Amino acid sequence: MPKKAAEFIKSKITQEAQIGLILGSGLGSLADKLENADFIAYEDIPGFPKSTAPGHKGRLVFGRLSGKNLVCMQGRFHFYEGYSMEEIALPIRTLKLLGIESLIITNAAGGVNTSFEVGDLMVIKDHINMTGANPLIGPNADDFGPRFPDMSKTYTPSLRQKAHKAAEALGIKLHEGVYCGCTGPSYETPAEIKAFRVLGADTVGMSTVPEVIVAAHSSLPVLAMSLVTNMAAGVLDQPLSGEEVIEIGKKKSAQLQALVAEILYEL
Ligand code: HPA
Repeated sequence: MPKKAAEFIKSKITQEAQIGLILGSGLGSLADKLENADFIAYEDIPGFPKSTAPGHKGRLVFGRLSGKNLVCMQGRFHFYEGYSMEEIALPIRTLKLLGIESLIITNAAGGVNTSFEVGDLMVIKDHINMTGANPLIGPNADDFGPRFPDMSKTYTPSLRQKAHKAAEALGIKLHEGVYCGCTGPSYETPAEIKAFRVLGADTVGMSTVPEVIVAAHSSLPVLAMSLVTNMAAGVLDQPLSGEEVIEIGKKKSAQLQALVAEILYEL
């Protein structure tokens, strides 16, 4: 399936991409900044599902930014939308077959670490998979990687270092921490957030973990960053809302975009 998708894309797009970018809720407008942009709607790509989450557009955007050739997933597939883990894996493997050498992921996340504030950015150093699922379950895709992939350096240390260097150059505060991946779509309960904090989580969200596992399986270096769009359940005495997540995403996306653009210079 990924082979068919990649062949189709290659037949439509002449640009080659060195770096893949997956943009989170409210953060997709970076793709609008690419020079010489070429687009392919997910619905036109064989085997690709259609993205339905609010704030997500649903297309691949090829183009240049900071002197690098990129392919952006503007909109991603979430487990909570009902997509299978296999469907979530497909775009990552497709990007791998298109020849990307690294993958940058952004997400909107709840702040579990009580020293974090809404609007903060965090580079992910590791994750806790609370989805109860794994995209690699089933026959192993031997063409991509081994049955039991190592996950001990999944969030590539050299890329994290480059992110910190870029943040420093821009004067942006950048935390480093552990992302806890849940399925959603309900937000977590205060008791769950308390438990995740004890386990070592700093942010919590409903994406990224499946994509990162697939990337790790195919030895694709990963840099992932969370934008704290809200404090997680129970941290503040106020309800959580999806609108707030998208609103903060939009407000802070300029900073995250500037950071990604600066990181690209470093790659
Ligand atoms: N929990 C889960 N996912 C999220 C959150 C949250 O608090 N904020 C943004 N995405």
